[in-house]
Amino acid sequence: MCGIIGYIGERPACEVIVRGLKRLEYRGYDSAGIATENGGKLFIRKGAGRIDELTEELGFLDLPGKRGVGHTRWATHGVPSDVNAHPHTDCTGRIALVHNGIIENFAELREELLRRGHVFRSDTDTEVIVHLIEEELKSSENFEDAMRKALLRLKGSFALGIIYTEEPDRLYFVRNESPLVLGIGDGENFAASDVPAFLEYTNKVIFLDDREYAVVTKDSYVVKNLDTGETTEKPLHEIEWTLEMAEKAGFPHFMLKEIYEQPRAIRDAIHGNADVIRTAAEEIAKYEKIFIVAMGTSYHAGLVGKYLLQRLAKRVPVVEDASEFRYEFDDLVDENTLVIAITQSGETADTLAAMKLAKRKGAKVLGIVNVVGSMATRIADLTLYTHAGPEIGVAATKTYTTQLTVLTMLAVELARVLGTADEGYLDGLEEGLKGIPELVEAALKHDESLRELAESLVDRRDFFYIGRGISVPTALEGALKLKEISYIHAEGLSAGELKHGPLALIEKDVPVVAVAPGGRTFDKMVSNIEEALARGAFVVGLGDREDLKRISSVFVEMPPVDELLSPLLYIVPLQLLAYHLAVLRGNDPDKPRNLAKSVTVE
Ligand code: F6R
Repeated sequence: MCGIIGYIGERPACEVIVRGLKRLEYRGYDSAGIATENGGKLFIRKGAGRIDELTEELGFLDLPGKRGVGHTRWATHGVPSDVNAHPHTDCTGRIALVHNGIIENFAELREELLRRGHVFRSDTDTEVIVHLIEEELKSSENFEDAMRKALLRLKGSFALGIIYTEEPDRLYFVRNESPLVLGIGDGENFAASDVPAFLEYTNKVIFLDDREYAVVTKDSYVVKNLDTGETTEKPLHEIEWTLEMAEKAGFPHFMLKEIYEQPRAIRDAIHGNADVIRTAAEEIAKYEKIFIVAMGTSYHAGLVGKYLLQRLAKRVPVVEDASEFRYEFDDLVDENTLVIAITQSGETADTLAAMKLAKRKGAKVLGIVNVVGSMATRIADLTLYTHAGPEIGVAATKTYTTQLTVLTMLAVELARVLGTADEGYLDGLEEGLKGIPELVEAALKHDESLRELAESLVDRRDFFYIGRGISVPTALEGALKLKEISYIHAEGLSAGELKHGPLALIEKDVPVVAVAPGGRTFDKMVSNIEEALARGAFVVGLGDREDLKRISSVFVEMPPVDELLSPLLYIVPLQLLAYHLAVLRGNDPDKPRNLAKSVTVE
C-alpha cells in the first residue's frame, strides 16, 4: 500500500503535495518523492526516509510549478531506497509517474523493454509502466492513446498519477484495484489515494471505479473507461467528514478501518505473491524438517500454516513460539532444516533471535513479513511479503488474514510440487482463495448484529473460544483479540479439551464462542457444544450448518467455504466482536494498555 497525490491549479504544487503526503503517511512511510513541471521541464526530488525529513533534506518545498504528483511509499518490489522511491521517469525524461499497487507481470514486461533498449534505474515493478508508455508513444497518435495501450497490457493493481511534459495543461490519473479519488476545486483540481490528502482544499469528490482514468486540467476533468476509451458520467459527492474522520476513512478507529480493509489486503497478498510462490514452494520441497516460528497473532497464523501443510503437502512442521524455540530446539536445527519465520513488523526481538539462531546453525530461513526492508527480511534467505500495507491499530487484523493468504498459497503450491494432493482439488482451493475477499465482505455484514451481541455481553468476565482442527488457531486468535483490547479474560482451546478440565469453569451464561465450519469434525464439535449448553453456557455459534443454528444461543451465519479456507473468514466476526466489546467498555482499541505495535525487546 502506498499513497499518491496530484495537483493542478494556481498554487505552488509542491506545497499542496507535501501537505497531502503528510496526510497519506498512514499508507506508507519508507520513502517519498515529488515531480513537478515548470516551463516544459520536469523537476523531481525523491528519497528513502520520512516525509518531514525529506522535505527538509531534499527541499521538496523549493520545487517550481503549478502541477505535480507525489508519492509516499510502502515498498513492495525493491527495498526502500532513493532510486526505488517514486516518481519514476522514462528514458527521455518527459514522463513522470507515481504508482500504488502491484504489477504482477512486471518481470516479463521488463525483459521485453530491456530487449528494446530501455534503461531501468530501479528494482520496482512501477518502472515498467513508464517505459511501456514511452514505447507505445512511438507508434501512437497521442499520449492518451499510448497510455491506454500500455495500461491494457498490465496485470495487477494500479492507481497512477502521470505527468507528460509535452502536454502542459493536464495530468492523468488511473485506477484499477487500488483506490483513487478526484478532488474538484475552483480553478484547481486534485487526485489522491484517499480524501484527507486534499480535504482542506475541497470537499467535492469523484470516486473513480476500477478500470477508469481521468484527464484533469485545472478547470476540467473527463473520466473514461480504460478498456473502451469512452467517456463516463460520474456523480459528484460532497464529503461531510472532518479531517480526523477522513484519515480513518470515516471509521472511528484504525482497527475497524483495518478490519474493513481485509478484502483489499487479501487481494493484494494474492497478486503480490503470484509470481514468487513457485520458487518458495520449490525451496521448501527440499526440506523434511520444518519449523515455523513466530509470536502472538503471527504464531496463530503459523498454527493454521501447520494444518495446511499437513493436509495438503503431507509435511508436519513443528510450530513454536519463537521465544521458546531459541532455548528448546537449538540442538535440533541443522543444515537440513527449514525455518519459516512469520512476523508482521519484521522487528520482533524473539522472532529475529530465532531466525539468527537458525542461520547460525546452517538452516534455510524463509520469512513471511509485512514490513519491507525490516530486519527479518535482511536475515531471511527468502521473503514472501504479505502486502497488507501499514497497520496502525496495535491489534493485528489485516496482517493476520494476509499471513493466512500467503500460507494457503504456499501449501497449495508445495502440494503441487510434491504431488501430494489431487490437482483438481488444488485448483478448486486456488479459485476458492480468489473468492475469499468477496466472502469477507459478506462476513463484514455481521458488524451491526455483532455490536448488538457485544452490548448484551459487555459485563461478562470470562469468554471461551472453541474449535477443532484448523479452527483451533481461529479460537486462539479470537481469544487473543478479545483479551488484548477489551481486557476481558478469554481462553481459546480445542473443543475436545473442554471436558479435560475447562468445563469446570462453564456455568450459566458463560459465553462460549464456537468456531464450527462444516468439515470433517463438525459432528464432534456439535457434541462439544452440547456439553457446554448442558452447563448453561451462552453459545455463539459461527458456521454454515442448520444443526448449529438450531442449538446456538446466537448464530452467526457464515458463507459455506472449504474448511481449509475457513480461518481466513471466521476470524472476521471475532475481530469485530472484540472491537465492539473494547469500545463499549470505554477502551481505545487502537492503543491497548501495556502493549506495543512492535515488541523489540525480549
Ligand atoms: C496481537 C499482536 C501481537 C503480534 C506479535 C508479533 O494482535 O499484534 O501478538 O502478533 O507481537 O508481532 P510481529 O508479527 O510483528 O512479529
